[in-house]
Amino acid sequence: MTDRVKQLEQQLLRDPFDAAARGEYAELLLLGGHHEQSLSQWLLLLKQEPKSAAAHLGAARCCHERGDGSARDAHLEDARACEDFDADDPFVRSLAPAEETRLVALRGLAGGKQELPARGEVISIASTDKVRFADVVGMKELKKLIRLRIIEPFLKPGLFQRFKKRSGGGVLLYGPPGCGKTLIARAIATECEAAFTPIGISDILNMWIGESERNLAAIFEKARQQSPSVLFFDELDALAYARSKANSDHTRTLVNEFLNQLDGMSGRNDRVLVLAATNMPWDVDEAMKRPGRFDRQIFVPPPDAEARAEMLRMKLCDVPTDWYDERALSAACHHFSGADIDGLIERAKDEVLAEILDSGDERNLTHADLAQAAEAIEPTTLEWLKTARNLVKFGGAGAAYKDVEKYLRSAKLY
Ligand SMILES: Nc1ncnc2c1ncn2[C@@H]1O[C@H](COP(=O)(O)OP(=O)(O)OP(=O)(O)O)[C@@H](O)[C@H]1O
Ligand SMILES: [Mg+2]
Repeated sequence: MTDRVKQLEQQLLRDPFDAAARGEYAELLLLGGHHEQSLSQWLLLLKQEPKSAAAHLGAARCCHERGDGSARDAHLEDARACEDFDADDPFVRSLAPAEETRLVALRGLAGGKQELPARGEVISIASTDKVRFADVVGMKELKKLIRLRIIEPFLKPGLFQRFKKRSGGGVLLYGPPGCGKTLIARAIATECEAAFTPIGISDILNMWIGESERNLAAIFEKARQQSPSVLFFDELDALAYARSKANSDHTRTLVNEFLNQLDGMSGRNDRVLVLAATNMPWDVDEAMKRPGRFDRQIFVPPPDAEARAEMLRMKLCDVPTDWYDERALSAACHHFSGADIDGLIERAKDEVLAEILDSGDERNLTHADLAQAAEAIEPTTLEWLKTARNLVKFGGAGAAYKDVEKYLRSAKLY
C-alpha cells in the first residue's frame, strides 16, 4: 500500500464522512487492483451520495474488473441518470466499441431491416470476461467428467475419432438454480479455447416475431464461421415449453429450425459445441434429447460442504474480514447454492456497511455477521430438490436421472 492510501485510511478513520477522501481512497484501491475493497468503498460513498456519477462509475469499473457485467451495466445506467455524468469519461468510452460491435452483430442477425431493440432487450452476442475451471469451486467429479466428455474431444478430435467417439454435439447441463451451470458453461468455452456465445432462449422467442428462425440460423452459421466456438442456450426449457404449447405456427417453425440446426451440427465435424442449461430438464422435450441432439446430459448439483467452505474463502478473500470459521459457516449453509452464498456475503456486507454509516466507526466483517446472514437466508435449491425427488421417486423418471437420485440419497433427501 502506498503512503497516500495509508494517509487516506487514517483520514477516514478520523472522519468517515469525508466524501472526497473516500472517493480518492476507492480510486487508489481500484488502481491497485483491489477491486472488491474498492467496490465496497464506492458503495459506501453511494450511501452518502446516491447521485454521484463518479461513485457509480467507480462501482461499474470494479464490477467490470470482477467480470460482473450485469452489475456493471446497472451502475452505468445509474451513472447516466446523474446530473454530473460525463459521457466522455474514458471508461464509458472504452465500453462503447464493444457495445457498437454487439449492435452491428445484431443488425446483421436481423437482416438489417428491423429497428434495433431497446437496451436490455438484446441477445448478448459475446462475453469477454473469461471464466476458467479454477474459478469454478468444487465439482471435482463433474470437472473430470466434463474434461473427458467435452473438453478433450473438442481439443483433440482426431484422437477421439480413432476411438469412434464424437466431438462437438450438444450437452445439456441441468440442476437447481444458482449452482453454477452458466458459470461452468463459460468455463468450458474458455478451456476449449473457443469463442463463447450465450443466447437466452426467451430473447429469441421475444424478438422480431417472424425473424426468429432466421436469427437462429444466423447464430448457428456465425458459430460455424467462428469455430472453434461454443454456443450456449440458457433456459432451454423455455423453448420446450413453447413447443408443447405450440400455440402458433411461428413457435412451431422456430422449434423445428432449432432441431434442424442441431441435426445439421451432429453430421459434421464443425468444432462447434452446443451447450444448453435448464432448471427443468423434465420440461425439455424428449425430441431434444434424441441422439445427435442434447444426448449428453450432465447434472450440476449444489456444492458440498467442502466446496461451500472454499467458496466462502474465495469470495471473502478481498473483503476486509476478521477471523471466521469457514467450516462452521459451511455447515450452517446446508443446501445453499453458490448464488445463495453470494447472497449471504452481500447481506453481511450490507449490514456492516449500514452499521458503519450509522455509527461512523469502520470495522471488518466478522464471523458473527456471516453466521447471522447465513441464518437469515433460505437455501433456494430446496424447492428444486423436492420436485426432483418426487419425480425420481414417484414419477418414474428414475432411469433418466440416476445422478440426481444418487445426489438425493447422499444428501439424505430421498
Ligand atoms: N461452483 C461455483 N463456484 C463459484 N461460484 C459459484 C459456483 N456456483 C455458483 N456460483 C456463484 O453463483 C452465481 C450463479 O451461478 P450460475 O449463474 O452459474 O448458476 P446457474 O446454475 O446458471 O443458475 P440458474 O439456473 O438460475 O441460471 C455465480 O455467478 C457465482 O457467483
Ligand atoms: Mg444460469
